[in-house]
Amino acid sequence: MENIFKEKRGGESVLDLSPKATVGGGVEDVYGEDRATEDQLVTPWTFSVASGYSLLRDPHHNKGLAFTEKERDAHYLRGLLPPVVSSQELQEKKIMHSIRQYDVPLYKYVAMMELEERNERLFYKLLIDNVEELLPVVYTPTVGEACQKYGSIFKRPQGLYISLKEKGKILEVLRNWPERSIQVIVVTDGERILGLGDLGCQGMGIPVGKLALYTALGGVRPSACLPVTIDVGTNNETLLKDEFYIGLRQKRATGQEYFDLLHEFMSAVKQNYGEKVLVQFEDFANHNAFELLARYGTTHLVFNDDIQGTASVVLSGLVASLELLGGTLADHTFLFFGAGEAGTGIAELIALEMSKQANGVSVEETRKNIWLVDSKGLIVNSRKESLQHFKKPWAHEHEPINNLLDAVKAIKPTALIGTSGVGKTFTKEVVEAMASFNKRPLIMALSNPTSQAECTAEQAYEWTEGRAIFTSGSPFDPVKYDGKTFVPGQANNAYIFPGLGFGLVISGAIRVHDDMLLAASEALAGQVTQEHYDKGMIYPPFSSIRKISAHIAANVAAKAYDLGLATRLPRPADLVKYAESCMYTPNYRSYR
Ligand code: NAI
Repeated sequence: MENIFKEKRGGESVLDLSPKATVGGGVEDVYGEDRATEDQLVTPWTFSVASGYSLLRDPHHNKGLAFTEKERDAHYLRGLLPPVVSSQELQEKKIMHSIRQYDVPLYKYVAMMELEERNERLFYKLLIDNVEELLPVVYTPTVGEACQKYGSIFKRPQGLYISLKEKGKILEVLRNWPERSIQVIVVTDGERILGLGDLGCQGMGIPVGKLALYTALGGVRPSACLPVTIDVGTNNETLLKDEFYIGLRQKRATGQEYFDLLHEFMSAVKQNYGEKVLVQFEDFANHNAFELLARYGTTHLVFNDDIQGTASVVLSGLVASLELLGGTLADHTFLFFGAGEAGTGIAELIALEMSKQANGVSVEETRKNIWLVDSKGLIVNSRKESLQHFKKPWAHEHEPINNLLDAVKAIKPTALIGTSGVGKTFTKEVVEAMASFNKRPLIMALSNPTSQAECTAEQAYEWTEGRAIFTSGSPFDPVKYDGKTFVPGQANNAYIFPGLGFGLVISGAIRVHDDMLLAASEALAGQVTQEHYDKGMIYPPFSSIRKISAHIAANVAAKAYDLGLATRLPRPADLVKYAESCMYTPNYRSYR
């Protein structure tokens, strides 16, 4: 991916660390009170020990009925709680029971968000212990509906809103946030929320949800997470006309005005929190997503999950599948259906990994094993002039082909990867063609949501007589075929980004390098065991995500140290143990 951005950056690499690029801030005097001159404004924050009623209202410290007798006496809680003293486990059981009563996913979502606002540790305990059940509640698909209705659901701020009104004052706005030691920021401008399009300011549900996963799955402390929504307007007419819409009531600012605001934000973030804060761009429209990574990749610690996280999780599935397919990546041929943000990002990371595996072979050379089809057919040299910038590297010498079936028959790929967003495109003929020249055809139907999947798990197994290795973007239930149960894998980005981000945090990394994405893929693939392979799985089960994240974090941190991009020194001897020891746990603490 560096290769794509390097050209846009005038040849600059993330490894070119210029002292000029470094600014102060971010360590001790985060809010600048000590450094402020008399004419500068400071924020009059005060901190006090919570007790009594205010302790019960403080979600970071509240334990509800789990306050012990001793704590009730010491912290003026007598009489404010009923007599019973509950364990955290019993509280968890009770809330899971009540959440399961709701049939409507959005009600479950609201119940979870209310819990987070009431008792943060209990919220994370639920999420960690019931991750497979609650992930679709706090994140996709339910979070999408929550964003659509965000204006009516939420009563309290869950993150920072930075709109065009705050232009010139963003540093001050950051200082209004009560937490000082921020390590991860997830920011959206709401322009392309999941598959739902422009939701403007209501996109806030996405950074909030992603950061909840950073904590639950990756172990980043909740107080170190900052959700941000940049509001430059919306082109969503329904929202503009909605009297309850919470954002700026104007069309989106674009061009210079847009990038000036983003630049002020990025500069303020670095000035306030220093070089080690991770900024994850989330659900930006394609053109801005690529542009922001190119602009800030060499000066800030930035990551885009839609581009880099997707590439890393899919590459991991491919690396793991080699155990079933045999050979190395270079021995296989890949055909993508869909050549957008996801397709080209994944393709580039595969090419990079192939080039690393085959010492000395250039990325230009390894790209030749990878073919892409877009809405106009196979991407070939004769179309080069009319292709968008990011598709050009994939134009190979071949006669034009304008449909997928003919492309499959001509290219004879080992792996067919769907990233077009168009459902039901891996037809019976296409899948049967894959099965005709592959012993184990690899079928990745990555388009979301489920209705847009290129084919279902059942179809993939049936049309290949149970020989397919199948993975999808949206989850599918296990399939019984010919007496055997197949468990389809889900190439869920949530496997990668929490561990990757945690690895950056624990090593104090100051830039994201492509090799770290490869390190994350390899660590995830390394967690797939023979028992998983026997069921046709190329991803480990999500239930062990904390262990998986620790391994990913350790591998990413190791890469940061190797590349000279880590600042937390000395390097711990056992990075897996170190990662595990740094992870946030949601168990209640005892109060004196
Ligand atoms: P995009 O809009 O950037 O790219 C779509 C591409 O598909 C474009 O190249 C377009 O030309 C092509 N296309 C559209 N219609 C076509 C047709 N009828 N025939 C052939 N090609 C066609 O979208 P993006 O962001 O790349 O996402 C694509 C899909 O991948 C979405 O459904 C998304 O949900 C899914 N995705 C899955 C992920 C996962 O499984 N972890 C992660 C990210 C995306």
